[in-house]
Amino acid sequence: MSHNLPDRLVRTVQTLLACTMLLGSYAGAAEKLANVTILATGGTIAGSGASATTTVGYTAATVGVDTLIKAVPELSNVAQVKGEQVFQIASENMTNEHWLALAKRVNTLLAQADVDGIVITHGTDTLEETAYFLDLTVKSKKPVVLVGAMRPGTALSADGPINLYNAVLLAASRDAVGKGVLVALNDQIHSARDVSKTNTSTPDSFKTPELGLLGYIQGGKPYFYRASTRKHTVDAEFDVSKLTTLPQVDIVYGYANVGPVALNALVAAGAKGIIHAGVGDGSLAATVKPALVAARKQGVVIVRASRVGQGILARNGEANDDELDFVAADTLSAQKARILLMLALTKTSDTKAIQQMFYTY
Ligand code: DGL
Repeated sequence: MSHNLPDRLVRTVQTLLACTMLLGSYAGAAEKLANVTILATGGTIAGSGASATTTVGYTAATVGVDTLIKAVPELSNVAQVKGEQVFQIASENMTNEHWLALAKRVNTLLAQADVDGIVITHGTDTLEETAYFLDLTVKSKKPVVLVGAMRPGTALSADGPINLYNAVLLAASRDAVGKGVLVALNDQIHSARDVSKTNTSTPDSFKTPELGLLGYIQGGKPYFYRASTRKHTVDAEFDVSKLTTLPQVDIVYGYANVGPVALNALVAAGAKGIIHAGVGDGSLAATVKPALVAARKQGVVIVRASRVGQGILARNGEANDDELDFVAADTLSAQKARILLMLALTKTSDTKAIQQMFYTY
């Protein structure tokens, strides 16, 4: 710097230079934030109740995605966020058509270079199902994180804002790349395949009881401790890009005194696949087994699952699947076995190939 300039001018120029470099570094930091798109579908996270103490009996799917984002200004510290309202429904009303539209939108966005990750806000009732459907149909390694809330935003200690913040920072994290579709609530990270809603109303409802969660989110950072051993996303064989419907697959539930009426009605209505959520290790009641055999003979694919919730549904355990030409669900819950069978039936009706899919995904 020239020595014949007045000191004050020199100091001013030096200060301006320092500010420019600081802004440059902030700008650089802002450029480095990942681009995360939030796709909002409704649910309690977008719900509202009559009072701050209303944690049940509120209305789901009333608050739009822009309001959800505005309610958590801290999101801008962890990602460059954009919002899209894809649906506004309570998730008990989710349909195959919603899933197809969502999967197509996710794949379109993730194919864009300016999208680094996606968060899907969703009702908790069928969140685990949507997550698994996407786990099998998303064609990218980029993070896709499903998030919900057990309390509406109007409630004392609402869990939605912190769940959304955590989901966005997870979707923005390189550590989440290639992990499959993730579910993030209650500071925990779960795999789409193995997580389930285990409580009707408490904030710790989402659990992976025996196979275990994948990690935690703490202090604004995700910590992974395991990864799923099953295939998903880019390694899955299912392509829904040209599908407008999915094969009809229904679930029948096993219990003491069960009869074949529900099963026969579903088969008569055109089910292409039936998931039998049996008692214990998928046992077949004598009153139902003949109807299952008859359905199989009509070409309906039968999958034996369990209503129990944990453990392996053993092929040829409680029934001779080889002889009956049934499929065993492995560790999938009935609702997730339904999703895998639906997608399997878009490719084949060969039960040996389908059984292999249940050991693969
Ligand atoms: N109606 C339920 C749903 O949209 C509310 C439960 C929730 O979102 O937590 O899934």
